[in-house]
Amino acid sequence: MNSTIDTIKNRRSIRKYENKKISKELINEIIDAGIYAPSSHNSQPWNFTIITHKKVIDELSDEIKAWYASLVKIGVPLSFIKKVREAVEGMRRMVNSEKDLFFYNAPVVMIIHAKSHEFYQKDCACCAQNMMLAARSLGIGSCWIGFADIVLNKSRKMRKKLGIPVSHRIMATLVFGYAVKFPSKALPRNRFKKDFI
Ligand SMILES: Cc1cc2nc3c(=O)[nH]c(=O)nc-3n(C[C@H](O)[C@H](O)[C@H](O)COP(=O)(O)O)c2cc1C
Repeated sequence: MNSTIDTIKNRRSIRKYENKKISKELINEIIDAGIYAPSSHNSQPWNFTIITHKKVIDELSDEIKAWYASLVKIGVPLSFIKKVREAVEGMRRMVNSEKDLFFYNAPVVMIIHAKSHEFYQKDCACCAQNMMLAARSLGIGSCWIGFADIVLNKSRKMRKKLGIPVSHRIMATLVFGYAVKFPSKALPRNRFKKDFI
């Protein structure tokens, strides 16, 4: 197997991080790999907000937690609907946990945001994947936090607080850090349909 395919197959979402900072040089190296992603018309729509202050990460995590806690309250009366009940139970577990189940105590939270543009979501997803792969190749773990994307897109207040232009949409929230352990095996992938024509 060549080293690129090896990195792709060994990247895993990491949810336990060591209490160790990532140097600015490495963060910049990861971003540099991100911006070599393809983008429609070479538009390169991505912007990055990088949070490394633990206090700011904790505050953001608490605000996200509070947002989901309010959703639980709204969902409870509708819990007779199976799908709502399951979603409420999942959110309740996250909200009530002592652990940080949003950012997993990662030392870096990175938000990719962009102004609306044709294909900007796809462009930024390519950029995010480049960064997660680059991180893995540098011995750094990562995880995409879609739960944070949702809240940050809803909350103008949080975007403003982080200095993200309110006209920008949140494309991806990624956490990075040194993995306590890289799982040895990828999760099994589903069977898929493959048609050669
Ligand atoms: C758009 C997107 C959103 C995700 N959101 C979360 C999340 O909020 N929390 C989390 O722990 N993992 C999240 N993940 C990670 C997935 O759960 C993970 O990629 C999947 O289970 C496959 O595992 P692997 O990444 O280790 O191969 C997200 C992944 C993607 C692509």
